[in-house]
Amino acid sequence: MRLVLVGPPGAGKGTQAQFIAEHLSIPKISTGDIFRANVSQGTPLGLQAKAFMDRGDLVPDDVTIDMVRHRLAEADATGGFLLDGFPRTTPQAQVLDDILADAGVKLDVVLELVVENDEVIRRLSGRRTCRSCNHIWHVDFDPPAVEGVCDLDQGGLYQRDDDQPVTIANRLEIYATDTSPLVNYYAERGLLIGIDATGPVDDITQRATDALRPLEHQD
Ligand code: AP5
Ligand code: MG
Repeated sequence: MRLVLVGPPGAGKGTQAQFIAEHLSIPKISTGDIFRANVSQGTPLGLQAKAFMDRGDLVPDDVTIDMVRHRLAEADATGGFLLDGFPRTTPQAQVLDDILADAGVKLDVVLELVVENDEVIRRLSGRRTCRSCNHIWHVDFDPPAVEGVCDLDQGGLYQRDDDQPVTIANRLEIYATDTSPLVNYYAERGLLIGIDATGPVDDITQRATDALRPLEHQD
């Protein structure tokens, strides 16, 4: 399956992506995770992206598109993928259509996680991420057994630099102006499924897998 997750910052894209990708046995491709890995390794791509990310701005389309084009060409993505955080602008969506058309395939579905702004602010303010396996936790809603330590691999947890109030506000504004038009873009193409992304994480995973079931094994 070729699937895109869309939704505001803090909607739970990363949280759900880890479960959905595993359920469907497809790689999860998160542009935010790839950028953060490059920032922490100090690569030229990371140096280029860091200033934009720290402000909560989008990394320019040409840089992002180049990176995704390369990632989608890797062997594990040829049979399907889950994209988390891409596309985020109409030009990115158009290029994704072109990349897939060139490969003779198409997107199966775009899953929109629908959540109100006040809830995503609560989620982002308490988010913690494992430095080694990237698992996502929350200090109140999904705390690890030992504060600051990942249950899965005992990695240290950190708070993302862009989870500060001013940056969160900017990211929400950019979502509204630059990314939310994609909801219509994909609805017009008959690809959009919206699900209520409030309530317990497991309930949302269940809603997502129920919504995707009719699309599985269609090839
Ligand atoms: P990215 O990493 O993609 O950030 P984002 O879109 O802002 O989304 P988040 O990762 O903040 O939220 P999420 O929806 O994944 O929520 P999560 O599951 O973590 O991008 C970061 C930056 O990279 C961008 O700002 C930009 O600079 C750059 N970038 C990336 N892609 C780009 C692109 N295509 N073009 C240009 N630039 C790009 O959940 C949040 C918290 O809520 C967690 O603590 C979690 O435990 C908790 N939670 C989850 N579900 C629930 C629930 N049901 N109930 C209670 N708590 C919950
Ligand atoms: Mg994320």
